Amino acid sequence: MAHEPVRTDPADITEKAVSSFDRAADARLRELMQAFVRHLHGFAAEVGLTQEEWRSAIDVLTATGRITGEHRQEFILWSDTLGLSMFVDALENPLQDGATESTVLGPFYVPGSPLRAYGADISEQAAGTPAWVYGRVIDATTGAPVGGAELDVWQNGDNRLYAVQDPGAPEHHLRGRFVARKDGTYAFRAVRPVPYPIPDDGPVGRMLSATGRHPWRPAHIHMIVRAPGYQTLVTHIFDRESRYLDSDTVFAVKPSLVRTFAERDADDPETPAGIDGAWCSLECTLVLAPGAAREVADPGRTA
Ligand code: BEZ
Ligand code: FE
Repeated sequence: MAHEPVRTDPADITEKAVSSFDRAADARLRELMQAFVRHLHGFAAEVGLTQEEWRSAIDVLTATGRITGEHRQEFILWSDTLGLSMFVDALENPLQDGATESTVLGPFYVPGSPLRAYGADISEQAAGTPAWVYGRVIDATTGAPVGGAELDVWQNGDNRLYAVQDPGAPEHHLRGRFVARKDGTYAFRAVRPVPYPIPDDGPVGRMLSATGRHPWRPAHIHMIVRAPGYQTLVTHIFDRESRYLDSDTVFAVKPSLVRTFAERDADDPETPAGIDGAWCSLECTLVLAPGAAREVADPGRTA
């Protein structure tokens, strides 16, 4: 009796693709590639992916590559809007007792902001209601001040834009680095941030509208806090009064990061020098966990 030829089914293809990495010398690379292929094939099997759907997914990836450049990082936007940036951040930064929680970096961080003096203004042109941001940087285990900690801050203005998105803005507008004093205190002048849509004129924006999602982020100020002997903290401070706290399109809101911007009148006796008119203040203690500092990658870097 003639033998039936052995048939190939989808699981055989997965097995071959997975075992093609068996001899990868780097064990971690082998693990990543094999799990990636297994999950990718598992996803295709689960949804019964058609060739036409896969072809349009490749068109989306191609469009993502085309729109990404010096000032636009569409791959990070995918990672953010799919919740993966926050997920990876949570894996790498398990909750530390008492320490300020971390959140997503976002694509608008620019390394090398100017060092500014205690209390200096990060806005280099009018950008909204002045906000006096102040507090202390302290150690999560002892509560001791972390003098010399560096705060690297950036935010958007009332036109919704970060300076890197705004060709009319001075290069260093709405960003700066500050060093905490010996007693851990810091202060800077900012503006009250406003909600803004993430860039939605590309493939990520098309995904959001096709799936009935909005592109908005609640109002926030970004910070990276660094000090020798402490884990680098990448975080935001959110405005309690902002819209979209419950539906941040990048899933970055953590309740502990939502703070009150206290509204102050022009004649408030605590009005800082140089502020005319209404302003607000934001007190924010930043609590660092002892550990190793890490480098924060430039999100604009494409290689
Ligand atoms: C941001 O907060 O700057 C941001 C984060 C994720 C995506 C887009 C913007
Ligand atoms: Fe932001």
